[in-house]
Amino acid sequence: MLESSRWHDNNMEIVDQTLLPHEVAIVRMNTLEDIEDAIRTLKIRGAPAIGVAAGYGVVVAVRNLMKTNTLRLDSIEDVFHRLAATRPTAVNLFWALNRMRKVVANTGVNDGQTLVNALLREAKAIHQEDKELCLSIGRHGANILPEGGILTHCHAGALATGGIGTAVGIIRTAHEMGKSVHVYADETRPLLQGARLTAWELEQLGIPVTLICDNMAAFLMAKGKIQGAVVGADRIASNGDTANKIGTYSIAVLAKHHNIPFMVAAPYSTIDPSLKNGTEIPIEERDPAEVRGFRNTQWAPDDAPVWNPAFDVTPAGLISAIITETGVHRSPYNFGD
Ligand code: MRU
Repeated sequence: MLESSRWHDNNMEIVDQTLLPHEVAIVRMNTLEDIEDAIRTLKIRGAPAIGVAAGYGVVVAVRNLMKTNTLRLDSIEDVFHRLAATRPTAVNLFWALNRMRKVVANTGVNDGQTLVNALLREAKAIHQEDKELCLSIGRHGANILPEGGILTHCHAGALATGGIGTAVGIIRTAHEMGKSVHVYADETRPLLQGARLTAWELEQLGIPVTLICDNMAAFLMAKGKIQGAVVGADRIASNGDTANKIGTYSIAVLAKHHNIPFMVAAPYSTIDPSLKNGTEIPIEERDPAEVRGFRNTQWAPDDAPVWNPAFDVTPAGLISAIITETGVHRSPYNFGD
């Protein structure tokens, strides 16, 4: 299975997810600008994967500062600010940057190589930890995943994490346990993560998958084809309100109407205990061009006004279970510190 990002040959590499599934390109990240661009343009995406990439990104950027003799606390702080400004919703980004910032505070800047080594150790630890978190989420979730049709939205698989994925990790673990599951993958407009990534990843794993347009989920549920829905998350407030890819909320509403369990899977790095509820989660708004067309094809008028939030918030009351590495959590949720 491809890794979303990795440290290889003493350099940071990512799989460019914008080119999938037709081209598998492994790209080296040489500069802070490369990494900012990769996160902003979704070459690397998915909340835990963004956190892992941010860790490696700090290593690359600080090593460059060392090489250019500009390694100072203020120049490192600028690196943190710039990476934090790439995408606002997935809290894993800020969580990983905070871990890296603590390493700078503890190690200092007197010996550049010592600092770079310590940062690399921490980035690798974040990556390794995410691998293990995914496995635990997979085990806990697989135990409660119903057999039959499973709807998922966006992409919460291996490429969205440092391991086997969260929602897809659960599906994969259930499949490996011998449970009979057939995944229905929402294509996930506007950027088609479900069609381009989830359908592709599941095919590679040999897990039966049927691709649907986002607006087909209700009819599929009405026909009795869906026994459960499971999605990932970008940020979970302490009361369980969950931000995930735009369109997730409508699936949760549909699931409630059809009496189908709607489950969220995420590691602790996606929980933001500082937020009381989902109204406080910052929601990214993206380029209108993403809605007017896709890649080089535009089908809407040039000046068509567009609203393009990248995420929505599903109220905790619609979520039957939140599955983390510690187990299956049920309402009322309390993730406060
Ligand atoms: O905009 P994206 O592609 O980064 O959005 C990703 C999602 O919404 C995922 O469902 C979420 O990050 C969980 S990934 C394990």
